[in-house]
Amino acid sequence: MTNTGGIVCLVAIALMAGCASTSAADETPQEKPGVNKLVIHADKGKETINRNIYGHFSEHLGRCIYGGFWVGEDSAIPNTRGIRNDVVEALRRMKIPVLRWPGGCFADEYHWKDGIGPREERPSMVNTHWGGVTENNHFGTHEFLDLCEQLGCEPYICGNVGSGTVLEMQQWVEYITFDGKSPMADWRRENGRDKPWKVKYWGVGNENWGCGGSMEPEYYANLYRRFATYLRNFGGNRLFKIACGARQSDYPWTEVLMSEAGRRMDGLAPHYYCGSGKKSRSATKFGEEDWFAQLQRALLVDGIISKHAAIMDKYDPKKRVAMILDEWGAWHQVEPGTNRGFLYQQNSLRDALVAGVTLNVLNSHCDRVKMANIAQTVNVLQAMILTKDEEMILTPTYHVFEMYKVHHDATLLPFELQCCDYQFSNEQIPALNVSASKDKSGRIHVSLCNLDPKNSAQLVCELQGTKAKKISGRVLTADAMTAHNTFNKPEVVHPAAFDNFKLKGNILTVTLPSKSIVLLGIE
Ligand code: AHR
Repeated sequence: MTNTGGIVCLVAIALMAGCASTSAADETPQEKPGVNKLVIHADKGKETINRNIYGHFSEHLGRCIYGGFWVGEDSAIPNTRGIRNDVVEALRRMKIPVLRWPGGCFADEYHWKDGIGPREERPSMVNTHWGGVTENNHFGTHEFLDLCEQLGCEPYICGNVGSGTVLEMQQWVEYITFDGKSPMADWRRENGRDKPWKVKYWGVGNENWGCGGSMEPEYYANLYRRFATYLRNFGGNRLFKIACGARQSDYPWTEVLMSEAGRRMDGLAPHYYCGSGKKSRSATKFGEEDWFAQLQRALLVDGIISKHAAIMDKYDPKKRVAMILDEWGAWHQVEPGTNRGFLYQQNSLRDALVAGVTLNVLNSHCDRVKMANIAQTVNVLQAMILTKDEEMILTPTYHVFEMYKVHHDATLLPFELQCCDYQFSNEQIPALNVSASKDKSGRIHVSLCNLDPKNSAQLVCELQGTKAKKISGRVLTADAMTAHNTFNKPEVVHPAAFDNFKLKGNILTVTLPSKSIVLLGIE
């Protein structure tokens, strides 16, 4: 199987002898005799990996906002103006670059004016999409923008098209960003914020083909144009307007949006969820069939992005419009005994591999993909963090984002990868998945995923265009495919130092453990 770093493209090379995987029944971990080869062109990078590819998404859904981020100022849980300190610290360590809010489906029934002013006076509403619970609106615009300031990340606000009005969205922008005297800016001042905030990323609706209004693409394209017209740039604030993109592989949606509204948008935001296993949809109780099916579906994101990108290229060959994958991730059954509408799921080593390969793929499309937001940050879907009252644990997916932060704003390096297949039953996927980049100081980072849950892999890596002197490594793996962190055992899946490599001249030989993610730093 041949894979490339997105710039250099080679024709497929036949599988090498010795790469056939062991049978599904063979439980013994073993080293494969097959040789995997990687050539990295350290002097040929052109494109920058936008740090926002490592972005996040938080919705008023289950315990993401309430209990996850927000505990309120009077809580015994340590907080700053109501926002949990432990969660903020963890996300800062991971260098969260951008946070999308307030939804999701919730965005198209959210009325921002209900979420400002004295909290005890804010009207409540029913969160009809997510469990039918009462939303008290205690976390609103000021709290979200305070959260982003505490996190040191860019805010990305998604406005309401489905059940909102043009005036409402226009006034939201004025409220947040206008510096002069105006009804909205004065109202903001009354509510305690004198200076306007800067907000760049602005979504015009969410999933308007579904929960955001069940619209046809032609109808939404027209609505997009109408709403976008009234989204004003006040003072030095420049809005980056993002249109609702396609559901998974709905290519006609992209075609219509680009042809009817492409010139009026800065970003187009498709969504891709890779589901769960085949037999079991449990996050932690699954077998190899489910492991394989999940990773196979995660890898499909590559083809889906390529096809949407090809349509975008037709209308926008200069790649002015960014593709923003503003929801992605695994979607399992909720944890037993929890509210089905809260989408609370555990997170295993398998989810870490989903994140590892997806981020590698997103890096490879960084000429068009400028932002991606995994769903969701805390306590919902493929979360970074799980909380239980005052306790907090980091998930395997968190560790992947923390390890991969070295790719933020680095230059993507082209590569050729020739690797064995990971075969299950009578299907196969490439066993290895790679990305490489060079940061501003000249340090090279290579993220390597071994998808095979039973076999380690030897990789011979040729470093072209650089003289490597020093290599360092980290690895994320565990004994079992289903390994995950719990409140009793929070460190089961945790990055460790890695030194299973040898450097001779410009040839680096690495042994990747089965079901692992390895991050190498090359100086
Ligand atoms: O992330 C959960 C939901 O998935 C979002 O609200 C919606 O946009 C998507 O369907």
